[in-house]
Amino acid sequence: MGTRLINFKLNGRPVSIEVKDNELLINVLRDRLGVLSPKYGCGIGECGACTVLLDGEPVLSCLTLAVEVDGREITTVEGLAKDGKLHPVQEAFIEEGAIQCGYCTPGFILVAKRLLEEVKNPSEERIREYVRGNLCRCTGYVNIIKAIKRAAEKISCGKA
Ligand code: FES
Ligand code: FES
Repeated sequence: MGTRLINFKLNGRPVSIEVKDNELLINVLRDRLGVLSPKYGCGIGECGACTVLLDGEPVLSCLTLAVEVDGREITTVEGLAKDGKLHPVQEAFIEEGAIQCGYCTPGFILVAKRLLEEVKNPSEERIREYVRGNLCRCTGYVNIIKAIKRAAEKISCGKA
């Protein structure tokens, strides 16, 4: 098994790092780059806790090889705040109390961000369908759905 130098953007900053061919993105982010928001949950693509955005699209970093992100752009929740202000989805999760243990939260926030780029005012059904790959053991999902609706309102009212 060889190694390869990869270059990518992480939350807007260039990164160059030597990785093994079989090294998983989640391990590179957490263990080698100190980006701790992607969480290791199931490790088999079933919980969504490890979600990051790859060129803006949600991917599971527990199933993504680090070499696959060469030349591309990764966003994690560490990169969402702008000029010291949280992203409206982050604000809405706090305001709606959609966070308990927080383990699932970064994944939900990134998936919700992407959904609201695609659909301005999603129905509850659409939200539930879009986040179905993300599991939460604590909240029962009700406040998460409310938070995503609230974020949609913030964005459409320009309060963001
Ligand atoms: S840790 Fe990646 S989907 Fe569960
Ligand atoms: S807040 Fe604990 S798993 Fe979702």
